[in-house]
Amino acid sequence: MLNLYTFWRNTVKNFSVTGAIAPSSHSLAEHITAMLALKKKPARVLEVGAGTGVVTEEILTILGPGDHLDICEINPHFINFLRKRFQEEDAFKNASCHVDLFPCDVQKIPVDKPYDYIVSSLPFNAFEPNTVQKILDYYLQILKPSGWISYFEYIGIRPVKAFFSRSQEKERIQGVEKVVKQFINQNEIFHDHVWLNLPPAYVRHCQKKD
Ligand SMILES: C[S@@+](CC[C@H](N)C(=O)[O-])C[C@H]1O[C@@H](n2cnc3c(N)ncnc32)[C@H](O)[C@@H]1O
Repeated sequence: MLNLYTFWRNTVKNFSVTGAIAPSSHSLAEHITAMLALKKKPARVLEVGAGTGVVTEEILTILGPGDHLDICEINPHFINFLRKRFQEEDAFKNASCHVDLFPCDVQKIPVDKPYDYIVSSLPFNAFEPNTVQKILDYYLQILKPSGWISYFEYIGIRPVKAFFSRSQEKERIQGVEKVVKQFINQNEIFHDHVWLNLPPAYVRHCQKKD
């Protein structure tokens, strides 16, 4: 319940970076971590846009000793909330993998140690097209060859938003659509529909080419 309250309070204050009306469901958290759950060896994982930690909690059930999780979240209130969960909640404080928190924009994550998996909850539909392009390029830069990027986007939001928007906003959304479509055409391996989420979402699994 505290989770929901914290999420809504911060969504009202920062909708342009939170970009959601509710935390993700357990079903979405399971789908977005599906490729990670199949891992066969120790992995370096980056979670981007952790919010109140719904997806983080699922990631922690998969990772074990030898794995490394970096958590990136731009909103300091969510970072404080996550820190508290790591101090107080068994599912977090008993994590057996190494965990580091990065309270920053994802584009500030160091590039020197590439990741095997990136699990991203960023609200691309709330960003400018060039920001989306920069972040997706950055994901490929900080990912190992054959590494996976799993992310979600809400079903049908872009066309509905574009239909009801004035020209400048319509142009922005169409720009985001173009960038995301190109990324999907070049990198997506498969996607799932997650109906048990508010709103329902696509979870997309993309792989960096060798
Ligand atoms: C749609 S919410 C998802 C929260 C949570 N993972 C979930 O699924 O319920 C997006 C999150 O991304 C964070 N965020 C937005 N822009 C970011 C950026 N450039 N770098 C890191 N985190 C960012 C927001 O603060 C927010 O917590």
